Amino acid sequence: MPDSLRFPTVRMRRLRYHPRLRQLVQATRLDPAQLVLPLFVRPGRDERRAIAALPGHDQLSVDRLGDEIRTAARLGLGGVILFGIPAHKDAVGSDAMKDDGIVQQALRAAKDAAPELLVVSDVCCCEYTSHGHCGVVDDATGRVDVNNDATLELLGQQAVSHARAGADVVAPSGMMDGMVGAIRAALDDAGFAHVPIMSYAAKYASAFYGPFREAAESTPQFGDRRAYQMDPAAEAGQALREVELDLAEGADLVMVKPALAYLDVIRLVRDRFPGVPLAAYNVSGEYSMVKAAAANGWIDERAVALESLTAIHRAGAGIILTYWARDVARWLG
Ligand code: PBG
Repeated sequence: MPDSLRFPTVRMRRLRYHPRLRQLVQATRLDPAQLVLPLFVRPGRDERRAIAALPGHDQLSVDRLGDEIRTAARLGLGGVILFGIPAHKDAVGSDAMKDDGIVQQALRAAKDAAPELLVVSDVCCCEYTSHGHCGVVDDATGRVDVNNDATLELLGQQAVSHARAGADVVAPSGMMDGMVGAIRAALDDAGFAHVPIMSYAAKYASAFYGPFREAAESTPQFGDRRAYQMDPAAEAGQALREVELDLAEGADLVMVKPALAYLDVIRLVRDRFPGVPLAAYNVSGEYSMVKAAAANGWIDERAVALESLTAIHRAGAGIILTYWARDVARWLG
């Protein structure tokens, strides 16, 4: 190393003394316009049921959704993503495809409340199926499993129904092979060629989804999701193949999920696919852990949340789905 690069010539702390200089040399800044807030809708009237494992979040009936939507719009959030808890579940998740299904009602209510707010709909079967898996389950392969290709047809119908109800973006989260292509074709055929797809492209079989499954009442009734979601111990490069395939099938935006335990994957995807909008889902468990520790007085929620989101952004995610979206807008506002 040349002398000119050595202490005392170089003092890294010079950039850190003045608060304005620290700010001037920042490269990562959080912006509410890049955050997407998850919302949970349930049947009934005038219902607001607290989700114990996600403090600060509730299952809302459609008539109570308007206030949340207007708040999200007023705070300047990038958007909301809707998850539905249907009144009836069955083996194929029929309610997911109905034009008067819970998410379809919620989409219409959201568009009524604040037409300018971006509304994303999660496209998956697990909230609607009695068994809680992300597709049709059968034993066609000789073992009980989600039938990939039979599920694609249902996902296409669900996405079209969401688009008809006003979804600005559809977000398939079931990790079925070919799901993006099937949804793209179904949307195009139905006159929705303009509706973008945000694919949960690299979604891992993660224990960090625990609180969400309480929120969405979508815990698998048998087995787990390891036969379709990615193995956390697989080579990180497998995520690149997933993203590449989804892009080839027509994905407009791609997602890595969860976020904090997969920052390496976010960085890898960012570097390999510049120009592709990249989202990361700061999932329920990442939020609940901090909430629980903060409730015990062990950690400063606001500081930890902002640091976590900054890390996710720095790793390369331009868009972050987070349960802190509203709080961040208020903290930064
Ligand atoms: C549905 C879906 C899940 C999440 C988003 N969409 C759950 C799962 O795959 O079990 C998790 C979100 C979170 O934990 O915050 N397939």
